[in-house]
Amino acid sequence: MNILVTGAAGFIGSNYVFYMLDKHPEYNIVGMDSLTYAGNLETLEPALNNPRFDFAKIDITDKLAVEKIFEEKNFDIVVNFAAESHVDRSIEDPGVFLRTNILGTQVLMDASLKYGVKRFHQVGTDEVYGDLPLDRPDLLFVETMPLVASSPYSASKASADLLVLAYNRTFDLPVTISRCSNNYGPYQFPEKLIPLMIANATADKPLPVYGEGLNVRDWLYVEDHCRAIDMIIHDGKDGEVYNIGGHNEKANIDVVKIILKQLGKPESLITYVTDRKGHDQRYAIDPTKIHEELGWLPTTMFEDGIKMTIQWYLDNESWWKNIISGEYQQYYERMYGNR
Ligand code: NAD
Ligand code: DAU
Repeated sequence: MNILVTGAAGFIGSNYVFYMLDKHPEYNIVGMDSLTYAGNLETLEPALNNPRFDFAKIDITDKLAVEKIFEEKNFDIVVNFAAESHVDRSIEDPGVFLRTNILGTQVLMDASLKYGVKRFHQVGTDEVYGDLPLDRPDLLFVETMPLVASSPYSASKASADLLVLAYNRTFDLPVTISRCSNNYGPYQFPEKLIPLMIANATADKPLPVYGEGLNVRDWLYVEDHCRAIDMIIHDGKDGEVYNIGGHNEKANIDVVKIILKQLGKPESLITYVTDRKGHDQRYAIDPTKIHEELGWLPTTMFEDGIKMTIQWYLDNESWWKNIISGEYQQYYERMYGNR
């Protein structure tokens, strides 16, 4: 089996490459990534010596380069993680989100049709459902809900989902889509809530909490996400969408306090800053479909996962300190300087 994993040098893509190489000793994997600010080849170092893994530095919007590698490698399955993924950056500069997340998906699907790929899997997000009110804990996202995106990021991901379903119906491209809630774990870029708070707390820097910190996210350990995608690409039904989430809702402020407690740092580091524009209130996934059809259940509880994640960041300071020394400094100043 030959599998293409796009966005392989990012957070979830790299975790997925490691998971798949370990789980399926007979599979060959190509990791494709254009190495944007969020992609880091150093992350893939443990896989680079594996004879069953190849890395290709290719932008998914580059039709010629994409077609060339599809022709060479005869992929059976494509798993598309490649995306611009940070909501705050999409508010600052939407264009690149539309280019990569929508047009890049189209280029990959055209190549998949041309070269007879047997399954195109689109890694989607729960943000395409918009948000849920804080005072209705009974409401959860289900796959049949309409798509109501709030940010340029989520609008671009919703557009890609619609395009994937259209390629399935119009051209018979075999597809599946997963829509997962917020992931956390090793190798997450320190612009996202959990690694940013760990990095700042470690350095005794202020922890910038948006608004009142009451927005709720539904956290899932990254390996549980990877296992769910593995189940979907093998046993998921053509043309279907699967929600992935572990019923683990937490207000942002509670997540931040857990991190501070675990690191033995004072809550006085918490600084409330101007809210994100269009900030989604609450995400909460109903994972009944993937549980009943494919038998998936999460295995890592948040209490354990957050400790493992904090420990990973403490043990791998050089990985994230390299990252926060470059372009990140300017980004941080732009995003948080006058907030
Ligand atoms: P990430 O930003 O850490 O990684 C994205 C990767 O894609 C990077 O390595 C980047 O270099 C690469 N990339 C960006 N543009 C590219 C292009 N034009 N061509 C090739 N590669 C390109 O993101 P992540 O958190 O790992 O998210 C991966 C996927 O999962 C995304 O599609 C995202 O929408 C989805 N998702 C993320 C979460 C989450 O909580 N992080 C939850 C649900 C779904
Ligand atoms: O739900 C899935 C989505 O989760 C993915 O599709 C996205 O790619 C991923 O980035 C994530 O989006 P969020 O916007 O939920 O994640 P982020 O880590 O940026 O923010 C989580 C919450 O924390 C959100 O309510 C905003 C808040 N926040 C974030 C940052 C970076 C803060 O309060 N302070 C911060 O500095």
